[in-house]
Amino acid sequence: MNPIFADLPTTIFETMSRLAGQHQAINLGQGFPDDPGPEDVRRAAAEAVMNGWNQYPPMMGLPALRQAIAAHYRRFHALDLDWETEVMVTSGATEALAGSLMALIEPGDEVVLFQPFYDAYLPLIRRAGGIPRFVKLSPPHWRFTEESLAAAFSEKTRVVLFNNPLNPSCTVYRREDLELLARFCTKFDAVAVCDEVWEHVVFDDNRHLPMLAIPEMRERCVKIGSAGKIFSLTGWKVGFVCAAPKLLRVLAKAHQFITFTTPPNLQTAVAYGLAKSDDYFVDMRRSFQRSRDRLAAGLRDIGFPVLESQGTYFINVDLAPLGLNEDDETFCRRLVVEHKVAAIPVSAFYAEDPVRSVVRFCFAKRDATIDTALERLAGALRA
Ligand SMILES: Cc1ncc(COP(=O)(O)O)c(C=O)c1O
Repeated sequence: MNPIFADLPTTIFETMSRLAGQHQAINLGQGFPDDPGPEDVRRAAAEAVMNGWNQYPPMMGLPALRQAIAAHYRRFHALDLDWETEVMVTSGATEALAGSLMALIEPGDEVVLFQPFYDAYLPLIRRAGGIPRFVKLSPPHWRFTEESLAAAFSEKTRVVLFNNPLNPSCTVYRREDLELLARFCTKFDAVAVCDEVWEHVVFDDNRHLPMLAIPEMRERCVKIGSAGKIFSLTGWKVGFVCAAPKLLRVLAKAHQFITFTTPPNLQTAVAYGLAKSDDYFVDMRRSFQRSRDRLAAGLRDIGFPVLESQGTYFINVDLAPLGLNEDDETFCRRLVVEHKVAAIPVSAFYAEDPVRSVVRFCFAKRDATIDTALERLAGALRA
């Protein structure tokens, strides 16, 4: 058996979910909303499954969806994408990530990635033969620097895997960050695989800027999105990839033999959803921001040092200033057993030299769920 997968330990996500079940805890560990998602988009999927085409759709995705993706990014980011040669539909962002890495990496190529990272990245990079090179990010700002990039990039760098907005740090990177990374990509002739699934879930004055919009990255960037996050329908697994034709052509070859296609009714519904008016996107953000503020205020009242959440469904607390004598994982295990609230220790998102003081909570929950969780957490810092 391949040791990359055979030797993967039980993840902290599984452990926390199991403990949450055993202790009837409120699960603020997993990142999915309580809300069922927009009714009109779900109706469009139901309608399409009853009255539409249910056989294999085209390998690149339904033309209506590819056109809708191109139009969507023209509307929000003034990107000029040719839907026929630069847009492809995948079965979730996860498939897009796996396919991109399989298509772009040759064994021995180096891949720069930022810790903390989404848990799928490392096994996918390794299985594609890539050698990971880490850039460590730390609270409270989680920003990278010229020096940290210089230490990670080399002549062997082929790909940089960049998640923006970044889960789990809840950071939205600014233009100057993107431009700095772009300079390294250009200098070392690397392609940026940009996981932008959280692009619409950003708060306050933060605005998402796609890496593809940085002019020198137009030909060396793979932009990955996910309808699951855009429409709060995380189980749908409809993703998309936008990239210059010479990159997309190769990515399409990988996609052809991974999933080939994605359920046509969901594609039809996502095409409908992407064309929704700006109000939908504004309201969605406003609603998550309200929940973020509710959880943040409650955590602060209890005494947790709350870190800024600029986007995603999550918010972090940094235990370091509290001098608790517990690392994040020990704290989370105690929290779920004694206080019946599950959270995720952010050290789980590092491969080496982790930050061990940050705990992540999901706020994409009903007010009553958040309030009950806060009541339960009230005693957590008195231990
Ligand atoms: C950073 C990041 N990338 C990818 C995914 C997975 O997206 P999908 O469900 O579309 O495969 C997630 C889901 O939480 C995520 O947070």
